[in-house]
Amino acid sequence: MTTAFDPIDLGGNRLANRIVMAPMTRSRAYGPGLSPTARTAEYYAQRASAGLIVTEGTQPSATGQGYPDTPGLHSAEQVAGWRRVTDAVHAGGGRIFVQLMHTGRIGHSSLLPGGQRPVGASAVRAKGSVYTAAGAQKFEEPRELTEEDIAQTVEDHAAAARNAVAAGFDGVEVHAANGYLVHQFLAPNSNLRTDGWGGSPERRARFAAEVVTAVADAIGAERTGLRISPGNPLGDIDEPDPEPTYTALLRALEPVGPGYLHVVETGERSLTLELRKRFAGVLILNARTQGRPSGPEELALVEDGTADMVSYGALFLANPDLPRRLRAGGPFNTPDRATYYGGDDRGYTDYPALDA
Ligand SMILES: Cc1cc2nc3c(=O)[nH]c(=O)nc-3n(C[C@H](O)[C@H](O)[C@H](O)COP(=O)(O)O)c2cc1C
Repeated sequence: MTTAFDPIDLGGNRLANRIVMAPMTRSRAYGPGLSPTARTAEYYAQRASAGLIVTEGTQPSATGQGYPDTPGLHSAEQVAGWRRVTDAVHAGGGRIFVQLMHTGRIGHSSLLPGGQRPVGASAVRAKGSVYTAAGAQKFEEPRELTEEDIAQTVEDHAAAARNAVAAGFDGVEVHAANGYLVHQFLAPNSNLRTDGWGGSPERRARFAAEVVTAVADAIGAERTGLRISPGNPLGDIDEPDPEPTYTALLRALEPVGPGYLHVVETGERSLTLELRKRFAGVLILNARTQGRPSGPEELALVEDGTADMVSYGALFLANPDLPRRLRAGGPFNTPDRATYYGGDDRGYTDYPALDA
């Protein structure tokens, strides 16, 4: 029987185990020009025993930033900052992909160069508010991307992917989940376009397919992953019938052959299984759990073949040596929500590992 502690091949690499550190925004890119710091390198290096680390959401362009102090991957300073991170993780025997996250309408003009308005698939404002330097503010109506803007945004992702390789990353995860720009194209309530990128499930899936294809063309399909969250209402998304859209997306990506599909499960297990059947690469599952973060219970999903790998968010944030603790059945440090976003080393690099 395969277990989560067995190795697996991904992107031309042999991963030590099937336990993934899920992408987590930490809002601590305090280096020059929103670049990671030595502390960022320490934080990720502490977690190098993951089979695979997926970094915090990282903007492919200045326009893609939706939260304070999130890192980018579109300048030389940022590439240099990330190089320290990947070197530290590799020195610890780990593997690391960067998550490219363009937040689209989930953002605020106060975070963007020249106070420009956030962009979106359509000019549809999300309900809710965003955390800014001036406190919580309502989301703004985004500017609908023109055809030219779409081409530029796709190219920004490809350029950031090339930067990722220059920074030493083992690959790139395209963030098409959780209500951000790519998800805004997929969902029928945030995409009201009547051109080639809106309307039918196939046309709503087109932008996601274009971004993933451009990244794969830039760095190789085996080094390209994709994160989706069908039906996830985060960011005021409403997807009453997600299956046709996501199966259309997987169909469009069949000739590309991305290395992995990372599913954030918010709906039924049957949809996860359907998507797995239609995807030839590695399936990483961030399982639906109710009222608790993913834990030791989810290891069984590898054993019973539901997924090839399982990802852990909150528990990995709080337990740098999570694979070892999972193998031992605990104990686990408790994540402290107060230090999730921004701040200093507290709740970042000071969670203890088990004694040797
Ligand atoms: C502090 C924090 C930040 C997160 N930031 C991101 C992010 O940048 N990109 C993303 O795709 N998901 C993000 N997530 C979601 C996690 O990747 C994961 O899907 C979620 O925490 C559920 O998994 P869990 O039960 O193992 O924590 C974040 C979660 C947390 C707790």
